[in-house]
Amino acid sequence: MEKLVIRGGKPLTGRVRISGAKNAVLPVIASTLLVNGTCCIRGVPCLTDVRMMVDLLGYMGADISWEGETLSVRAGNLNNREAPFEYVSKMRASFLIMGPLLARFGQARIFMPGGCNIGTRPIDLHLKGFVSLGAEVIKEKGYVEARIRDRLKGTRVYLDFPSVGATENIMMAAVMAEGTTHIQNAAEEPEIVDLANFLNAMGGRVSGAGTNLITIEGVPSLRGSTHTVIPDRVEAGTYMVAATLTGGEVYLENVISEHLKPVIAKLEEVGAKIKNGGAGVRVTAPDKILPINLQTLPYPGFPTDMQSQMTSLLAVADGTSIITETVFENRFMHTEELIRMGADIKVDGRIAVIKGVSRLSGARVQATDLRGGAALIIAALAASGQTEIGYVYHVDRGYERLEEKLGGLGADISRA
Ligand code: UD1
Repeated sequence: MEKLVIRGGKPLTGRVRISGAKNAVLPVIASTLLVNGTCCIRGVPCLTDVRMMVDLLGYMGADISWEGETLSVRAGNLNNREAPFEYVSKMRASFLIMGPLLARFGQARIFMPGGCNIGTRPIDLHLKGFVSLGAEVIKEKGYVEARIRDRLKGTRVYLDFPSVGATENIMMAAVMAEGTTHIQNAAEEPEIVDLANFLNAMGGRVSGAGTNLITIEGVPSLRGSTHTVIPDRVEAGTYMVAATLTGGEVYLENVISEHLKPVIAKLEEVGAKIKNGGAGVRVTAPDKILPINLQTLPYPGFPTDMQSQMTSLLAVADGTSIITETVFENRFMHTEELIRMGADIKVDGRIAVIKGVSRLSGARVQATDLRGGAALIIAALAASGQTEIGYVYHVDRGYERLEEKLGGLGADISRA
């Protein structure tokens, strides 16, 4: 099993280019199933999650070529219209193919995604949307099957929680429905806007993406199109936190600072200086990290995907901080590993109380999930001595060329 070896204590300095967003590219790839024609996607990051989605489409019979950052997909006549256990168990986002398959073929069968380590993560809101659109949903032998008799029919769907995945899946299903669909209490994340832009480039009529009311006027058919995915705001945020914690100064290229507003606001509260310039953002660490309180929320609130990284930062703040996680119920697993590195953190349910210590020290730890792994890397970069981080495959799901990028900023990091 691969591990990362980091010798900490070096401030990160220099420039780093942020990759295309994992959470934007996955639904965009899924939506290529809506059309017969060729779709060309640019800015595709080379990540294991993206590879998994590409392999899934290949398994279904799509023609795919992936060169550098450009992915070309032609989902002509698919011979498989289901996603088996092997794919869904490794990546929940595989479930995003259900909406497009239902819209195009009137039928889809996907292994039921179970809970995962950050929370139970049900799919009830996705299914509620499909049923409202007129699909019949059956659960049997571990699979969820959805089918329709004729065409999906436009409807009004209210989401009890603004789920990112449910909003995307319902958008993709409704884009070729008969009539108009309104998604109320929709997720407002930038990745939803990116998907809507791609659907519209394919001939769809989606409006309101980025607000809590999305309107989708169904069209009879769509065509292949070209799209460049937005930069990854979580990767960017991770490098910003790393620069702040290590006492460094980093310029991030290829970022949309608007998408990072909540992260920038909290880093400024901690004392970091953030400056927009050109197509990038410069982060300068403060002399002293100030304690803060933060609460994760759906966008435009503070992203749950940045919570773990902030825990590492606040572990060495000059005082006590409180983090409240409201999106996923089990997203503090990384705190036990940080405690091994000398952090003083008490977790009670969805609340973590972090008493800042003067310095973390290197230890042998394990990545517990994707962002929890990122948190350990950040902590290790600032810790004294050597840290070995196991289960690094979690991190490879979401960070492209990690050692190369961190090494370029002066970190002492290698893979063993
Ligand atoms: C997406 C992101 C993930 C991010 C999360 C929240 C992708 C590929 N992943 O995940 O990185 O952490 O948004 O910003 O884009 N829920 C239900 N029923 C449902 C669906 C969700 O109760 O049918 C609940 C979940 O259990 C969770 C909350 O809603 O508590 C948020 O989940 P959701 O927004 O759906 O996250 P994902 O789309 O899975």
